[in-house]
Amino acid sequence: MTGSSRQVPVELGERRYLIEIGAGLIDRAGPLCAPLVPGGRTIIVTDTAVAPLYLDRVRASLEAAGLRADTVSVPAGEASKAFDSFGRLMDDLLDCRPDRGTVLVALGGGVVGDLTGFAAAVLLRGVDFIQIPTTLLAQVDSSVGGKTGINTRHGKNLVGSFHQPRLVIADTQVLDTLPRRELLAGYAEVVKYGLIDDAPFFEWLEQGKGRALLDGNAGARAEAVARSCAAKARIVASDERETGELRALLNLGHTFAHALEKETGYGPDLLHGEAVGIGMAMAFDMSAALGLCPAEDALRVRRHLESVGLATSPRAIARDNQRAWDAVRLIDHMRGDKKNRDGRITFILARGIGRAFVARGIDEAPALETVRRALAA
Ligand SMILES: NC(=O)c1ccc[n+]([C@@H]2O[C@H](COP(=O)([O-])OP(=O)(O)OC[C@H]3O[C@@H](n4cnc5c(N)ncnc54)[C@H](O)[C@@H]3O)[C@@H](O)[C@H]2O)c1
Ligand SMILES: [Zn+2]
Repeated sequence: MTGSSRQVPVELGERRYLIEIGAGLIDRAGPLCAPLVPGGRTIIVTDTAVAPLYLDRVRASLEAAGLRADTVSVPAGEASKAFDSFGRLMDDLLDCRPDRGTVLVALGGGVVGDLTGFAAAVLLRGVDFIQIPTTLLAQVDSSVGGKTGINTRHGKNLVGSFHQPRLVIADTQVLDTLPRRELLAGYAEVVKYGLIDDAPFFEWLEQGKGRALLDGNAGARAEAVARSCAAKARIVASDERETGELRALLNLGHTFAHALEKETGYGPDLLHGEAVGIGMAMAFDMSAALGLCPAEDALRVRRHLESVGLATSPRAIARDNQRAWDAVRLIDHMRGDKKNRDGRITFILARGIGRAFVARGIDEAPALETVRRALAA
């Protein structure tokens, strides 16, 4: 596990693509993208927080490789994943007079990636796109798998499509400017891959590499991003459109997390990754309470998350300590989960670290107990 440059393939037959991972890669965007842009035209889509930091470097590299690079910027933040902003983005893209060979380049976090991917899926009935994810969450999760989409008043990501990128360029150095809170939220998803099916990876994180990557160690970052992408790529390749059981494992911690997010209004009080950290601690607690998983493993999960500064109970969210949490209402939120079958909540539980499984037909009582314990913590 040395060096700081990696390549992870996503094996999807004729839609196969590579994830390039390494420090300083945005300055090589031009030569990396050029072979995929035979028409020579790109449009970079970015947001107002990322543009001042990285847009010039990406554009300079694309232009040095002989590519034309127009740019379109959207306001930073989740609100840009709404219908009205999507409409404005489409018009801005069309103002650039693209043709079917024009390639969109998404430069930003998951918001820019989801939005640009969906725009690429429908612009002129479909153009190619390339992802340059700039948050840890986007590098290890949202840029891999081809899910794109926007939010509506009915909920998040309810309108969208599967549209795979042609290439993902994950520059681990751009994470240096990411606010610590965003970095930590993305880290929860990194830990998730270890907990699902890679116990040695969890141990590697636990034994100091997790903290090293959060503190900026380039080698640890590249290794963790590569290992996370490889895990997601493996699952995506065998279940591209989420029809089987396998892809559901990626939702470890998410049943609880979505209930917490719904309760906090998907706002700044609780970031998605923060909710996932709490949710994973709860999933392991519930697994241990059901006698499925050693109590020691649940304790290790909790200890590691807390050691890096992630919360493991809703009460530990300092910004939000006035909220009146209600266990029954949280369980109620879980009943609306997409994974549910036959009116029963589907949980992703674990037989131990690295041994997650999809649990259907589980009674709500132990879940309610888990929520109550978490709220009391
Ligand atoms: N498609 C998928 O499979 C998938 C999976 C998980 C999440 N998502 C989606 O991803 C979105 C969340 O993504 P996110 O957490 O990356 O949020 P984000 O895109 O909003 O980025 C977080 C903040 O960090 C800023 N930022 C980005 N890169 C930066 C950098 N290098 N330096 C400084 N600031 C930077 C952004 O401008 C933004 O303000 C959600 O909309 C979620 O639904 C999609
Ligand atoms: Zn997630």
